[in-house]
Amino acid sequence: MTIKAVRGVHDILPPEAPAWQRVEATARRVCEAYGYREIRLPIFERTELFARGIGEVTDIVQKEMYTFEDRTGESLTLRPEATASLLRAYIEHGLHVQPKPVRLYTLGPMFRYERPQAGRYRQFHQLNVEALGERHPAVDAEVIALLVELFRGLGLGERLTLQLNSLGDPPDRAAHREQLVAYLRANAARLCEECRERTERNPLRVLDCKRPECQPVLDAAPALADFLGREAAEHFGRVRGYLDAMGLAYVVNPRLVRGFDYYVRTTFELTTTELGAQNAVAGGGRYDGLVERLGGPADPGVGFAVGMERTVLLLGDTTPGTQPLALLIPLGDEAVRRLLPVAQAARARGLAVDVGYGERKLRGELERANKLGVAYAVIVGDTELGKGEAIVREMKTGAQRAVPLAELAAELSALGGRA
Ligand code: HAM
Repeated sequence: MTIKAVRGVHDILPPEAPAWQRVEATARRVCEAYGYREIRLPIFERTELFARGIGEVTDIVQKEMYTFEDRTGESLTLRPEATASLLRAYIEHGLHVQPKPVRLYTLGPMFRYERPQAGRYRQFHQLNVEALGERHPAVDAEVIALLVELFRGLGLGERLTLQLNSLGDPPDRAAHREQLVAYLRANAARLCEECRERTERNPLRVLDCKRPECQPVLDAAPALADFLGREAAEHFGRVRGYLDAMGLAYVVNPRLVRGFDYYVRTTFELTTTELGAQNAVAGGGRYDGLVERLGGPADPGVGFAVGMERTVLLLGDTTPGTQPLALLIPLGDEAVRRLLPVAQAARARGLAVDVGYGERKLRGELERANKLGVAYAVIVGDTELGKGEAIVREMKTGAQRAVPLAELAAELSALGGRA
């Protein structure tokens, strides 16, 4: 029996790699342009970090974490998200003494024990962007602008919708929660089993239910927007004002709630209609109070995470990979010895070239050149060696010409635009 990958995890195979590289390169470019610096974090942490950070009653902490004991019996967890880890590092290394906001980004795998389906995996990758230590609503707008710019840079801007909501401050939430629970209990008979269970455990998440039979009840549920305190309402108004000033389009969705307990005030998602049930490509919000809850200073924060798999799915196969420029075809061992240094010189200049081993027939090697998709084949047999030449063949046209062996490396550089 062969050993297969674990359910819900996936390999990123070479044909998919260019799209990943393009997303990562665009992410880095846009993050750096907005003044964000990279931080690299471990993929496992003490379990209590996530219990305290994400919230004990969330689905993620209750049902979806990969938790294990190490050999000393300490409980560790593969990170289900990066925000808690990033804040842990921020506190641990005293990054809060730097000029605020402290702008950080990180890329890497996350782990959640969810039911796998298209666009949903148990190991998946995120770009996380966090701005720490600044309460001003312009930071919320800046973070959202970065997110939009990233997807514009990938040519996906038109295919996504920015959804925006405010979850208010904790006292607003508490007042809303009381009325929401009373309302949901009164209408429990018209709700699905999961909604009824969530009513008691995490009532805000009930609003997230997508089941058609629950919609009439949820549409008429008490709206958090009506419970926003003066400060939270003003904050939200200013965030929207800054987005308007930047010409960024959004839809206010009063039912946008997120799967973490840490959010306050601004929350947002970037959604698509192209990926079925998994419609969120990115999500985030403000989490004032979380740094303090994790034992740090009273620094506010706002940020988001982009789902890389979903982004790559949206891109499709449009990113061309790089093909080697040339296949060098030595016919015989003497020719191998002449061509190896030429390949070495070309590669040192950053050109991608491949070399044969001198044992295959010319026809076989030309077939290989075709399969590799190279632009040129360079052929050196005994006749060419005798004349001190190589034959350079343009694969597309079949046109051939002789080039002195001594000039071959320079000629390849010219052909590859590296002269
Ligand atoms: P999240 O909404 O859980 O937020 O995840 C962000 C994005 O990660 C989602 O919109 C989705 O694209 C992707 N994602 C989540 N779960 C999966 C999965 N099982 N398979 C594939 N993709 C997935 C957070 O993680 C927050 N920490 C974001 C944040 C940062 N908030 C503030 N700062």
